[in-house]
Amino acid sequence: MTERLTATPEGIARAAELLCTGHLAAFGTETVYGLGADATNNRAVARVFDAKGRPHFNPLICHYPSADAAFIDVVASDTARALAAAFWPGPLTLVLPRRVTCKVALLAGAGLDTLAVRVPANTIALALLRACGRPIAAPSANRSGEVSPTTAAHVLEGLDGRIDAILDSGPCPVGVESTVLDLSGHRPFLLRPGGVTQEAIEAVIGPIQRGLPLAAAQATQSLRSPGMLLSHYAPKLPVRLNATSVSANEALLAFGPPPPGAASVFQLSETRDLVEAASRLFDGLRRLDAGASAIAVMPIPESGLGLAINDRLSRAAAPR
Ligand code: TXA
Ligand code: MG
Repeated sequence: MTERLTATPEGIARAAELLCTGHLAAFGTETVYGLGADATNNRAVARVFDAKGRPHFNPLICHYPSADAAFIDVVASDTARALAAAFWPGPLTLVLPRRVTCKVALLAGAGLDTLAVRVPANTIALALLRACGRPIAAPSANRSGEVSPTTAAHVLEGLDGRIDAILDSGPCPVGVESTVLDLSGHRPFLLRPGGVTQEAIEAVIGPIQRGLPLAAAQATQSLRSPGMLLSHYAPKLPVRLNATSVSANEALLAFGPPPPGAASVFQLSETRDLVEAASRLFDGLRRLDAGASAIAVMPIPESGLGLAINDRLSRAAAPR
């Protein structure tokens, strides 16, 4: 049975109690719902991989209530501190060297000598993290490879009965996962575009390196950030990108005025607003995922949050 918890002091206390006793509780963040586990508890972390069907070589992000708490577990450079000051709490994940004193289970970091840390911008999540008083590992609360959840109902579609509880804090406002920035090397390296744009990061720390185009990056980048597998975020139907026209048996994910003729239409943003589109992306992919032969997606500009949106869409469209 998966307990349904509401975003009340009692609900938060119950979720914290479950997490601190090795159970799995999903909770909302500003980006997507996370599947939480005590990051210092090996067995709890192992259960996360099991519930998601996630490959063990793919490390998890650890969540903290503050930058100070995060930097107890990792070594923070000046760059890391500047980014934390600018964007935390918020949708930015920093990959940094683990401290020798770090108590996070090695399994959570997939045995790497780095750890991905972040402080989410959601008051319920922050209250939960404070109540736990320990790092909480939380990948997106979906079955591995499937579309990330932005509502409690999405989480239950994939994980009902496989996890102990879900703390419902309503829909996630950002809608795409955090930006993952690797600060463990010589230069900052963008591993995953996400809720904080590359432009915003560069305004704080100057130019950053970005991955190669998706296909070319697959071989090398999958080693640096194993979660960046080519096929990911995938609905059941095939996905066709950059559609400027649509056939009668296709469902259309629209961005602005749609071409006529689709079997069904989900509008990401009538006014072509990328922030609104990001917040509706995963819900749209789920809603269109039946009763058609494919999902056609209108072109989305490659700037701002468009980078993260196109990253997720190209993985959704990648060969399975
Ligand atoms: O917005 C988010 O980041 C959400 C919410 C729940 O916080 N979490 C999330 O987790 O998207 P997940 O597990 O679905 O994606 C984590 C990504 C993966 O691509 C993983 O490979 C990468 O972060 N990652 C984690 N630890 C890493 C490390 N030490 N080095 C490089 N990449 C790492
Ligand atoms: Mg995920």
